[in-house]
Amino acid sequence: MTVLVLGGAGYIGSHAVEQLIRKGYEVAVIDNLLTGHQAALHSEATFYKGDIRDQEFVRSIFAKESIEGVIHFAASSLVGESVEKPLKYFNNNVSGTEIILEVMQEFGVKHIVFSSTAATYGEPEEYPITEKTPTNPKNPYGESKLMMEKMMRWCDEAYGIKFVALRYFNVAGAKADASIGEDHHPETHLVPIILQVALGQREQLAIFGDDYNTEDGTCVRDYLHVEDLIAAHILALEYLKAGNNSDVFNLGSNSGYSVKQMLEAARQVTNKEIPAQVAPRRAGDPATLVAASDKAKTILGWQPQYTNIKEIIETAWKWQINNPHGYQEKGDVKDA
Ligand code: UFG
Repeated sequence: MTVLVLGGAGYIGSHAVEQLIRKGYEVAVIDNLLTGHQAALHSEATFYKGDIRDQEFVRSIFAKESIEGVIHFAASSLVGESVEKPLKYFNNNVSGTEIILEVMQEFGVKHIVFSSTAATYGEPEEYPITEKTPTNPKNPYGESKLMMEKMMRWCDEAYGIKFVALRYFNVAGAKADASIGEDHHPETHLVPIILQVALGQREQLAIFGDDYNTEDGTCVRDYLHVEDLIAAHILALEYLKAGNNSDVFNLGSNSGYSVKQMLEAARQVTNKEIPAQVAPRRAGDPATLVAASDKAKTILGWQPQYTNIKEIIETAWKWQINNPHGYQEKGDVKDA
């Protein structure tokens, strides 16, 4: 039996494929390689290049493979871009998921673990954010992920397709041996940008606003290591295979770090100065996003291994030093 990973050539998907294979699962991957990297693909995974919105293509893979469950990472995920191009997000994310659910129903595949986001909560008034905190997305990206969750809920009711939606907070780091890591074009995430400054690839970090209602005025986020994030997906898959009901879980670290604290931690890890300058706020950034992840710990038995922010940054730094131009080093080329 095979686990089908949608988006298995992306940053998070590639870590999932690697961990699944390490744990003895058979893995098939669908990726259109628009943002994923061929070089990030695991040699033992069966790779199908194509788009999840192409129903005949998806059907052909379900016909060929004995799929026991789906892990779904294939989505557009840039908040800013989603505000400019909402239809891209509803098309790629929502329509793509609708096709997957249709084919799952046709082939009787009953389990899906789904990559959701803290952006489904919007900017809640209370912290930390629990799964009971009302959802109120503030951008089309968060809205598209919430729509995908809702679609799955109705498909559970109608067809008995069980899902686990994992609402990620801020994911960072790389596999400890630096064989795979984060490589986005363009890069918008804080940790890789800070490390690109440390490597001299950018002049300085722009700190997007220091007048937020937080201790040092910069935004506070909850960072977790990509390997811990993936461990939760595998636990979620096993949870569904054990016959449990559909559910939603936050994945975070229960602690928040400000942009300035992240910068300071990165300075210590890299031993580089990392110049930074305060810049205007970035549109749509909530001041604080910190998760309560106790539910995943209690119900899934999730136990994150990386509890220190510097250890998380260290793994990202090792990847960055070994692959200063990302997967280009391994023969993969993407437009900047
Ligand atoms: N930041 C800077 N300078 C930069 C880049 C980021 O100051 O050059 C700040 C941002 O303003 C924010 C923090 O660093 O306050 C983290 O920013 P990221 O872009 O790394 O991450 P976000 O919190 O914006 O977004 C992440 C995921 C989204 C997801 C969201 C959910 O990337 O996909 O968490 O909360 F929707």
